[in-house]
Amino acid sequence: MSKPQYLHGHHPSVLRSHTWRTAANSCPHLLPHLLPTHTILDIGCGPGTITVDLATLVPSGHVLGIDPSASVIKQARAHAASQNIPNVRFEVGDIFAWRAIPGIAEESFDIIHAHQVLQHLTSPVLAVQEMKKLAKPGGLVAVRDVDYSAMSHYPPHPGMRKWLRLYTSVAESLQCDPNIGKRLHAVAMEAGFARADIEASASTWVFSTPEEREFWCGVWAERTVKSDYRERVLESGLGTVGDLEEIAGTWREMEGRVDGWFLVVNGQVVCWKRG
Ligand SMILES: C[S@@+](CC[C@H](N)C(=O)[O-])C[C@H]1O[C@@H](n2cnc3c(N)ncnc32)[C@H](O)[C@@H]1O
Repeated sequence: MSKPQYLHGHHPSVLRSHTWRTAANSCPHLLPHLLPTHTILDIGCGPGTITVDLATLVPSGHVLGIDPSASVIKQARAHAASQNIPNVRFEVGDIFAWRAIPGIAEESFDIIHAHQVLQHLTSPVLAVQEMKKLAKPGGLVAVRDVDYSAMSHYPPHPGMRKWLRLYTSVAESLQCDPNIGKRLHAVAMEAGFARADIEASASTWVFSTPEEREFWCGVWAERTVKSDYRERVLESGLGTVGDLEEIAGTWREMEGRVDGWFLVVNGQVVCWKRG
């Protein structure tokens, strides 16, 4: 199997976005279902801030985070150590090759979790099928992903349309779906879950205060010209260096708008594996 390719890579601008994430701001669909004894597998855990948070919420259980990137797993381990959280472990690993990961077996976790991962996979249905295998009978598969087509912002700016068009076309050229958040329930059904066993919902992130705009717009301005995304745009031929610089400039302008407002809509599902 080829090495998984992640559109953004793990440039510091990308990691700044991931490390902002917590269980509270990224797992509202999952939190009501957690028990202190639960065992959790976090697929595509990135730098592990959500994973470590989840471990604090299952103090008598344990959490395993996996990601194909060795460098991001190193960062996740360092984060867990700095927080002194003993019941979390991180391993380099790919959801499509989980048999190679120490400590993973079929039906061995209460909860299989993936946050903002399915949008980057060419076979999201196959990934959910693998996740389902790993859940215990009676366990849960919990997934959350953005729907780029539902994002909105104020004030209007034509450059933002250009950003969205380019981002969407590059993701689609890699056979990924940046709007998958709206059809996670359909993906889960295709993966074998009955509709009655799927709780589908949505939750949002809003960035509007100066600090929030500095974070959201700053991350996008920087990742547009510095992360692996830049290389993917250029390789695809869908955009030029000039386009990327213009888009980064748009994000900086939006950051400076004291009346700026950004809405990110995330779809989410919790799927019960019936025993
Ligand atoms: C957008 S990041 C999300 C990181 C983290 N879950 C979060 O929300 O902050 C997507 C992650 O999925 C990982 N990934 C990509 N392909 C994968 C695969 N086949 N199996 C597991 N993880 C994968 C990437 O390396 C990347 O760290």
